[in-house]
Amino acid sequence: MVDPPADATLADFLRRAERLLVLTGAGISTESGIPDFRSPGGVWTRYDPRQMTFDRYVESAEVRAMSWAMRREFFAAGARPNRGHLAIAAMEAEGRSVGVITQNIDGLHQEAGSQTVVEIHGTARTVGCIGRRPRWGTPDGCGFSADTTWAFQRIDEGDPDPACPTCGGLVKSATISFGQAMDTTSMDAAAELMARADAMLVVGSSLQVHPVAGMPVDAVDRGLPLAIVNREPTPLDHLADVVVHGSAGDVLG
Ligand code: APR
Repeated sequence: MVDPPADATLADFLRRAERLLVLTGAGISTESGIPDFRSPGGVWTRYDPRQMTFDRYVESAEVRAMSWAMRREFFAAGARPNRGHLAIAAMEAEGRSVGVITQNIDGLHQEAGSQTVVEIHGTARTVGCIGRRPRWGTPDGCGFSADTTWAFQRIDEGDPDPACPTCGGLVKSATISFGQAMDTTSMDAAAELMARADAMLVVGSSLQVHPVAGMPVDAVDRGLPLAIVNREPTPLDHLADVVVHGSAGDVLG
C-alpha cells in the first residue's frame, strides 16, 4: 500500500505508486484535437445530450442521423495520441501501472501503446446490431458487428439510417449512451483493476457521470492515494492527495 506523499507533489505521488490505476476522460484527448463534452465549445454545447439517449436513438431516425454526423465529425479530427496518452502508456510499460479505465471512445490509449485499457463507455471504432426494438436500455442485437467505416459507406451511398444486413435491426456505434445499460464485462474488468491498484490517477474528467464519478470515491474508501490532473477543479478535488489544475500533456508529458 502506498502512503500519501509527504509533500503531496505529483512526481512523488507517481514515484511511490507501484500499481497505479489511471482513470481518464475526454480532457486527455483535447490536445489531440477531439473536443471534450462540457468545456466551452464542447460536444454538449453543440448537441443536446437529452436527445442523445439510447431510447431516443431507438425511437428516432433523426437522432440516429445526428449521431452518425457526430461520429463522422469525431473521426474527421484524425486524432493521434498526445503526450498525455504516451506518458500513461509508458507508466504501464515500466511496470508502474495496472492499466487505464477510460470514458473515451477514441482508442487513443491503445494507439499510444497502453495494453490494458477498459473502455467503460465503449468504442466509436465499431458499430453493431442492437435489434429492432431494444428496450430498457439494453441492446438486443443479432451479433452483427463491423468497423464504423461500414456505416459511413452506407450513408455515403445514400442510406441515412443503415440497418443490420443480417436481421434488419437498428445499427448503433458500440458506445454506451445515456440511458444504456453498462457493459458488464467492462465493469468487471474495471473492478479487477481497482482491486489490484495501490493508487489512482484521474486525468481529464469533470467527474460528473456515474459510475465513473464514483470510482475515485471507492478508491479513497479503500485507502488508495488519489491524484487528479484536470484543467479545471472537479467535485472530487477535496478527496485527492494531489491536485494539479493544468493541461494533461504539459503535466504528464
Ligand atoms: N488537460 C487536462 N484537463 C482537460 C484538458 C486538458 N488538455 N482538456 C479538457 N480538460 C478537462 C476539462 O476542464 C473538463 O473538466 O477535462 C474535463 C472533461 O470533462 P467532460 O467534458 O465532462 O468529459 P468527461 O469527464 O470525459 O465526461 C464523461 O460524459 O457525456 C458523457 O459519455 C460522455 O464519457 C463522457 C462522460
